[in-house]
Amino acid sequence: MKVTKAVIPAAGLGTRMLPATKTVPKEMLPLVDKPVIQYIIEEAVSSGIEDILIVTNRAKSAMDDYFDFTPELEDRLIASNKFDELETVRKTAEMANIFYVRQRETKGLGHAVSRAKHFVGNEPFAVLLGDDVMMSKVPVTKQLIDAAEKYGAAAVGTQRVSPDAISKYSSLKVTPIEGRVMRVSDMNEKPRPSEKFSDYPILGRYILTPEIFEILESTPPGHGGEIQLTDGLRRLLGVREMVAVDFEGVRYDTGNLKGFLEATIDFALAAPDIGDWLRSFLRAKAEALGL
Ligand code: UTP
Repeated sequence: MKVTKAVIPAAGLGTRMLPATKTVPKEMLPLVDKPVIQYIIEEAVSSGIEDILIVTNRAKSAMDDYFDFTPELEDRLIASNKFDELETVRKTAEMANIFYVRQRETKGLGHAVSRAKHFVGNEPFAVLLGDDVMMSKVPVTKQLIDAAEKYGAAAVGTQRVSPDAISKYSSLKVTPIEGRVMRVSDMNEKPRPSEKFSDYPILGRYILTPEIFEILESTPPGHGGEIQLTDGLRRLLGVREMVAVDFEGVRYDTGNLKGFLEATIDFALAAPDIGDWLRSFLRAKAEALGL
């Protein structure tokens, strides 16, 4: 099972980040010095992905522009000998083969993924949610691809959450296989406490097989009136083995303000050129606040 294609659903409305996301897609908000979506593309590329489909909508053309050439800007950078900046802007246009498809109506994550049918064809593929950013030594998508290949299975990323948080996510019924890999036998979306299978949710990364498209076509709207990917995955279990990978790394949901701020601070602290400055700034701030 070789995985060379990835789908990035990025057509959500971003209502949790309003008013910032009224005209700027949440995937384009800067995390330190790059937009959120660039971290996700970099994770895909460093996991061996060659072709990437971004599912967008009519309000998100800033993303297509970002990964395009910018001749006027580039000419100006050359004329003023700003070659480092030139390399930086060129790099974004040459990272991968990036394609776009529009989700015309915001009918849910399952519906967004179903838009990838023609792009994917008959191969397994990765899904990376456009607002879930990971910080890890081994790219999280690569951790999932390795498990999917080893077990000839679909794969989902997970990490245990606190018992009172699971009802915000999906809940997986899992049994250990080995190391960080578990077998998935059932799941449900946003369960009430009495309905949950475990405190393992699906977190932002998937390796799926093309059977999912036929399944999604006949999956009715579920929780919140949206076509839920979780409902489709539950049916995928009937035709495909699925594993959950308790991945190594930290996941940030940049689609809500707290997650976005945590990611901003952690990525800034980890950045070689700004980390030391931020550390002393935070130290001085904590001292001034008597913390
Ligand atoms: P979220 O629920 O996190 O994103 O969807 P959202 O809908 O933008 O969030 P809020 O609640 O309004 O702030 C998870 C992922 O699914 C994509 C989102 O872009 C995000 O990557 N998505 C969701 C779609 O592409 N289409 C949809 O119809 C819904």
